[in-house]
Amino acid sequence: MKIGIDKMNFYAPHLFVDMNKLAVARNVDPDKFTIGIGQDKMAIAPITQDSVTLAANAALDMLNEEDKKQIDFVIFGTETGVDSSKSAGVYVHELLGLKPQTRTVEVKQACFGATAGIQMAKGHITLNPDSKVLVLGSDIARYGLNTPGEATQGAGAVALLISADPGILALEDNSAYFTSDIMDFWRPVYSDKAFVDGKLSNEQYIAFFKNVWKAYKGKSGLELNDFEAICFHLPYTKMGYKALKTVLEEASEEVQERLLANYKESTQYNRNIGNIYTGSLYLSLISLLERQTDLEPGARIGLYSYGSGAVGEFFTGILQDGFRKQLATEHHQKLFDARKEVSVAEYEAIFEKTLPSDGSKMELDIEEDPSTICLSGITEDKRQYVNKAK
Ligand code: COA
Repeated sequence: MKIGIDKMNFYAPHLFVDMNKLAVARNVDPDKFTIGIGQDKMAIAPITQDSVTLAANAALDMLNEEDKKQIDFVIFGTETGVDSSKSAGVYVHELLGLKPQTRTVEVKQACFGATAGIQMAKGHITLNPDSKVLVLGSDIARYGLNTPGEATQGAGAVALLISADPGILALEDNSAYFTSDIMDFWRPVYSDKAFVDGKLSNEQYIAFFKNVWKAYKGKSGLELNDFEAICFHLPYTKMGYKALKTVLEEASEEVQERLLANYKESTQYNRNIGNIYTGSLYLSLISLLERQTDLEPGARIGLYSYGSGAVGEFFTGILQDGFRKQLATEHHQKLFDARKEVSVAEYEAIFEKTLPSDGSKMELDIEEDPSTICLSGITEDKRQYVNKAK
């Protein structure tokens, strides 16, 4: 039985900051951000969007009534959840109107959470072939104003529908994974900003990639020439390139050119949204499939997932007949076109705005936010969500 990605969608907040302008404000050469790091625009989440609403908006646009009847498992990958106890998935379950006979959980391992969700979904569908699983990856990346990590912030979510006989990508059985306890990036429970050892995290991202790529080749007997494209977790778009470069010489010249050209397409959406942590690898896959019109059914795509702390995995999928009709390319173009630029000063004000943590009430103006699903306020420490379409 083939199991894999039947549908996928992403959502990003409607505001962004231009990286050239951020560089000027920080007294940095703009080429450092746009070439050295490889980011053009950074999505900014207004206070009316959090990891719950971003994920719910991503799934809302993707699911039809038939899907909703078949979903019996929601797996929410996030490292910027809104509650240490209750799963963000339960809020999304309600906002989407999914059936009560559903298992719903949140999973966490830095940017690896959605990948863990996909592998769990695969097991669930093996046992329940008629089920569909909704896997979400949603985050708001915050390092802090005037920090080295600031240029690699972002916000957004992906929603993936995992099923038997998938419409887009059938996952293959071989997969290589690796865990090692390192402190490259972490966020203690008392902090709303991530702590990062940037140099170490770059090194470990590459070391984990080399490790799981070697293990994958050993398990599968495949080599680089067997791949049409490889998508990477992209904390910033230069990062995946650095990893790809370390293995590129294993391929023929023709394949090297193909992998580099496809890498470029796979980074375009991320370049304009920023780091979305758990969803980043899958945003890159969407970017590749929607922008690279040469891809044919039967092509093998590699996926490298990395979650600091750290866990890495390399796994693969085969593009399915008719995969293009499952994509939402026009819808995503409209989303990009409708975004609004904010100045660096406006971004800083949005960044500093937080919800009260003393139980007091705050009502938010959701008319300013064009998203269908918004956070409308907080009262007695309970977040209030609104689906404007209901
Ligand atoms: N023109 C072009 N490129 C320039 C440049 C300029 N004027 N100035 C600097 N650069 C290049 C540097 O050469 C470097 O490229 P390289 O890495 O290929 O050598 C790149 O821009 C970044 O410069 P660097 O000095 O290393 O940046 P930094 O110390 O300010 O921090 C990160 C960069 C990514 C480490 C930092 O943003 C960070 O900590 N991010 C969060 C953690 C993260 O994303 N980790 C990744 C693994 S998950």
